[in-house]
Amino acid sequence: MDHIRLSEAGSSVIILDQSLLPLEEKYIKLTTLEEMAEAIKKLRVRGAPAIGIFAGYALAALAKQQCRPKAISSCCGASGTSDEGFIQILQTQGDVLKDARPTAVNLAWAVDRVIHAVRVEMFRARREDPTRLNANAGARRLAEAATREATAIHEEDKAMCRAIAEYGLEEVRKVCTDAGHDGPIGILTHCNAGPLATSEYGTALGPVLLGTEQGVKFRVFADETRPLLQGARLTTYELQKAGVDVTLICDNMASSVMKKGLVQAVFVGCDRVAANGDTANKIGTSGVAVLAKHYGIPFYVLGPSSSIDLECPNGDAIPIEERDPEEIRSKFYEKPVAPEGTECFNPSFDVTDAELITGIITEKGIFRYPYTESLTAFSK
Ligand code: MRU
Repeated sequence: MDHIRLSEAGSSVIILDQSLLPLEEKYIKLTTLEEMAEAIKKLRVRGAPAIGIFAGYALAALAKQQCRPKAISSCCGASGTSDEGFIQILQTQGDVLKDARPTAVNLAWAVDRVIHAVRVEMFRARREDPTRLNANAGARRLAEAATREATAIHEEDKAMCRAIAEYGLEEVRKVCTDAGHDGPIGILTHCNAGPLATSEYGTALGPVLLGTEQGVKFRVFADETRPLLQGARLTTYELQKAGVDVTLICDNMASSVMKKGLVQAVFVGCDRVAANGDTANKIGTSGVAVLAKHYGIPFYVLGPSSSIDLECPNGDAIPIEERDPEEIRSKFYEKPVAPEGTECFNPSFDVTDAELITGIITEKGIFRYPYTESLTAFSK
């Protein structure tokens, strides 16, 4: 069952609340814009591709609500009775969703894509009947366009994850063959870039899940990923369910397992890849990349092309989300661990320099350094 989906009526979004995992598997139904934005902020739905998929469905659901009789009279000065008014309302709602988290480019990308599809539908309706110039396609037709586009984003993500998994699996098998390594393949991963963060297979966990289906043996070291513990709570949960050998380590133990020769490759996901290959991912990722370089271990970023932002020249231009200091001071502890009022710095992501990345594995293939050239070719 998809962990993000539209309700049967199409006017709400249903998600598996990831903030409760692994203790509780609970699906929640989100209907209002406020509930939807809160779900993104509170990481009830999280992972760059997943928040893109969610935002697509959220807009589709909100568009469907505009079809209700008397549902919309006005919003932010826009009237819901014309196509333009319908789109203006959707745009305002999309901006609220975009503001919920700034780093993952997939969120804004999905919002813009759905609104563009709705606009295209409006123009299509006008073209069909030139005498109806400036007349309305109507809310129902525009809402259907939003739902189609959101569904397409979701379906495409499934196909992208599968392709990323195939490329990544082939690459890591080659790395092992070249190094004369046999036995289980040791992978270190940071945060969670599995099915929960996407649609199916995931990105960083895709090669592991696909390989496991094919009988390849892996041993995964999952960084716990302070402060929100996506590695401890979600990566272990997903890999155990799939029957993969997974060992949880504290973030500061990565060097130790690498030094022991237990890691053949590092696989991480991404929230935004800049045009020069600098990559934002969960805080702590860049440190893992530095360690991998030191120990001569290949470090791969795996992500769909929707996570590549060619408008963003380099890592300095990527907005980094800062979160509540209480996530460091007290969350997940029975009692706060730091003296009250302790100053905390809590950036949710960091940027790994392009030079440290062995390859960026996408559904279109593997891009290599220098990324300014390889990623530019990708856009053509
Ligand atoms: O704060 P989160 O849990 O949304 O952070 C998630 C990550 O950093 C993932 O690695 C990234 O979004 C890629 S998910 C395929």
